[in-house]
Amino acid sequence: MKVLDDEKDKLLEHEYDGIRELDNHMPVWWLWLFYFTIAFGIGYALYYEVFEWGPDQHEEYEMEMAAAAEKYKFNEQQSAEEASFTWTYSEQAEVIEKGKEIFMGMNNLCFTCHGSAGEGLVGPNLTDDKWLHGCSAEEVATSITEGFPDKGMVAYGSGAPMPNEDVNALISYIGSLKGTNPPNAKAVDETRAKPCSIQ
Ligand code: HEC
Repeated sequence: MKVLDDEKDKLLEHEYDGIRELDNHMPVWWLWLFYFTIAFGIGYALYYEVFEWGPDQHEEYEMEMAAAAEKYKFNEQQSAEEASFTWTYSEQAEVIEKGKEIFMGMNNLCFTCHGSAGEGLVGPNLTDDKWLHGCSAEEVATSITEGFPDKGMVAYGSGAPMPNEDVNALISYIGSLKGTNPPNAKAVDETRAKPCSIQ
């Protein structure tokens, strides 16, 4: 084995299958990285575990939930108000128009499953007199706010919640579709649907 002159005194005694080792120093960048991980580890342990300055995962969860409640204007008091909301099929043109915008919008995706004219596609026809889950304003609102996750419709169509006024606009739009007889109407599922006519 060829050993350079200036390497001779670095050569270690041991040898494995002809492989010998030089007693080189660790590269400086490597050592600093190593010291940094130690310092970071100590700092991390002190910050989160010893002094508990930083939030743990449960606290982070609470903070995120609070932020979401703020963002989506959702809190317990409001839930109580929402529970007593009176659902009605509005016949006001601007309410129906707003409902149509939501129905056709990318936030809630109703049209993708119920068709652009409510004629039905993956989801049932919303223009006829046969309903799976009832057609009272309250029942339709519940269909929207809770969805049918096991059938493919998540709450609010896409999981993106909306204020009760908007849900009410949406049901008003659906109410306005009654008897419109759109082309390509999806056939009624006679095994499940029951007669029901939106008043
Ligand atoms: C991913 C597809 C999908 C999307 C998006 C979707 N739905 Fe549905 N929807 C369905 C399916 C499927 C059903 C039928 C559930 C069943 O078989 O019980 C349904 C049922 C309904 C019903 C009850 C119909 C009845 O006959 O009782 C209403 C009302 C309704 N959807 C409204 C909406 C509205 C409004 C939106 C948008 C906010 C929406 N859906 C978005 C798939 C969807």
